[in-house]
Amino acid sequence: MKNLYYPYLNKYLKFYEWSVNNLEEFWNLQANIIPWFKKWDRVLESDGNFYKWFVGGLLNASYVCLDQHIFNNFNKDKVAYYYENEIGETKSVSYYDLYIMVNNLAKVLSDLGVSKGDVVLIYMPLNIEAIVSMLAVARLGAIHSVVFSGFSTKAILDRIIDSKAKYIITTTHTYRKGKVVDLKSNIDFIISEYKDIKNVLLFDRKKDYEIKELDPKYVVIKDLNGYNYINPVIVESTDPLFVLYTSGTTGKPKGILHSTGGYLVYVANTLKWAFNVGYDSVWWCTADIGWITGHSYVVYAPLALGITSFIYEGAPDYPDPSKWWALIEKYKITEFYTSPTALRMFMKYPLDYIKKHDLSSLRVLGSVGEPINPEVWVWYFENIGNKLCPIIDTWWQTETGGFMIAPFMGIIPLKPGFASLPLPGVVADVVDEQGNSVKPNEKGYLVIKKPWPGMMKTILNNNEMYEQVYWSKFKGWYYVGDYAIKDEDGYIQLLGRADEVIKIAGHRIGTFEVESAILENNKIAEAAVVGVPDEIKGEVINAFVVLKQEFANYKDDPNIFSEIKQTVREVVGPVVVIDKIFIVDKLPKTRSGKIMRRLLKAVLLGKELGDVTTLEDEASISEVKNAYEELKKALK
Ligand code: WT7
Repeated sequence: MKNLYYPYLNKYLKFYEWSVNNLEEFWNLQANIIPWFKKWDRVLESDGNFYKWFVGGLLNASYVCLDQHIFNNFNKDKVAYYYENEIGETKSVSYYDLYIMVNNLAKVLSDLGVSKGDVVLIYMPLNIEAIVSMLAVARLGAIHSVVFSGFSTKAILDRIIDSKAKYIITTTHTYRKGKVVDLKSNIDFIISEYKDIKNVLLFDRKKDYEIKELDPKYVVIKDLNGYNYINPVIVESTDPLFVLYTSGTTGKPKGILHSTGGYLVYVANTLKWAFNVGYDSVWWCTADIGWITGHSYVVYAPLALGITSFIYEGAPDYPDPSKWWALIEKYKITEFYTSPTALRMFMKYPLDYIKKHDLSSLRVLGSVGEPINPEVWVWYFENIGNKLCPIIDTWWQTETGGFMIAPFMGIIPLKPGFASLPLPGVVADVVDEQGNSVKPNEKGYLVIKKPWPGMMKTILNNNEMYEQVYWSKFKGWYYVGDYAIKDEDGYIQLLGRADEVIKIAGHRIGTFEVESAILENNKIAEAAVVGVPDEIKGEVINAFVVLKQEFANYKDDPNIFSEIKQTVREVVGPVVVIDKIFIVDKLPKTRSGKIMRRLLKAVLLGKELGDVTTLEDEASISEVKNAYEELKKALK
């Protein structure tokens, strides 16, 4: 990197080297970013592939996020969140307000019997009450399991059964694109189906919704005023803070379990490093609390650091595509963090929607969820950042807890399309099938070679799967599941998933999960889905289905398509939209019976098929091709 004036770069690179060569000493210092009730005895302990951070340390997450700011009095009246929603309601909530609300909700939960180690499911839109719910659960040392409010009853039920949650926190409704979305009716269904739920806390929004029937399990919350104080329950650093489900290559989402101490230390540090947020920041991370980005960078990191955030409950382009830019102007957002898929959506509209707003408060821009194409990067840099704001492309995962590869703000020269270098304490490499580092600019698997505090504890109730998915491909290294390249400067560019996971609008969807959902339609015998590139969403799903013999006549019935789409919507949730469906007579499979999705994809993209020797019956490829050609014709 010649001819660049980055005065701190070399010093930083030396510091980075020191951090990874003195991992425990480094994290021993960084752990002081949060307050502890008792200091840890050991920084790191390992037992095979299981790691424990800050062993012996005692703390409470809601104390870290709230009490510390109340007691030092400096941040007490500082705004924790500005909130706005689609119907124009606004709130400005100070750290003290939040503290009061959390204590009052914790009182209700505690009176109902919620205690340390219990799992509480939270089914809420992105609003203040949702954040209060997470913190109230954490205050009691219980474990929250947030389920995205766009998910269906099936997804909720799966998560309840897997996590054995006995309590639910929800609200009557949310707003989306001018519509009232009923959430309570989904929970009504859950409690009628699943009798082990003890209680449901229901936030009554007292507007646009009439509560008709009320099962006795409901406890209606009208407000959180009051003077209750609940002692923050002291937990071990290694005690779990939350479980969050994410898709993989198995039929069902896995419950990613995160610890308390390591996780909080990691998210607080990484937010500072990557975005350099400070006392005067108005931070806006656009993620929903239903995803890890919302957990780490809407809730825990900003609160642990005591900064001001903004949250918005509503769609980005409603009532028109200037909404977000108007909000940036109104709230004078300083650091803005969103996804490439949202940016690509805005790129298709005229620039006027942006230009009519004053975005000069912005200092730093961020990106997450999928690779950011260089064109999108440059568009973001020029039109949103006015060529003044660095673009912080952060690579990480639900499992990693926080940013892993991202430019250390202001220190690292940027390259469009590159997540750049691993953050301090993170050792990342790109390797071949045998685990050898690949040459510069050669494609390989991304691996993490040393543990870090934000790492998941395990998969809930499934240590074997944890070891098998993440630690078996390369012994001793964490297997990420992404392809990447490393250039001559050591900069890492992500190239998408190496496994059968599809990324739609930045959300992880397992192929197997969607296929299982399609098979819930009783006319379908077999299904295979693949992700194909999409200009806005990154990827979309195309499905190939084989009808059961007795339903073969449905081949020409157009209703079958909407039926399948509907089943998938219901089973997996509205995030998963199937773009195209092809009915075929059989699916291409290997001799061992594995569906060759690679071939299906090649057909769809009009690419060479590559090696077909493992195919059971080559005829099926031509069938797929024919079916595709026919459909193409039919669509014209
Ligand atoms: C997968 C993890 C981490 C929060 C959001 C998604 C992809 C994530 C980037 C990035 C390229 C990225 C990877 C990763 N991904 N960030 N900056 N550049 N790809 O969390 O749902 O757990 O998904 O998202 O494929 O493995 P997630």
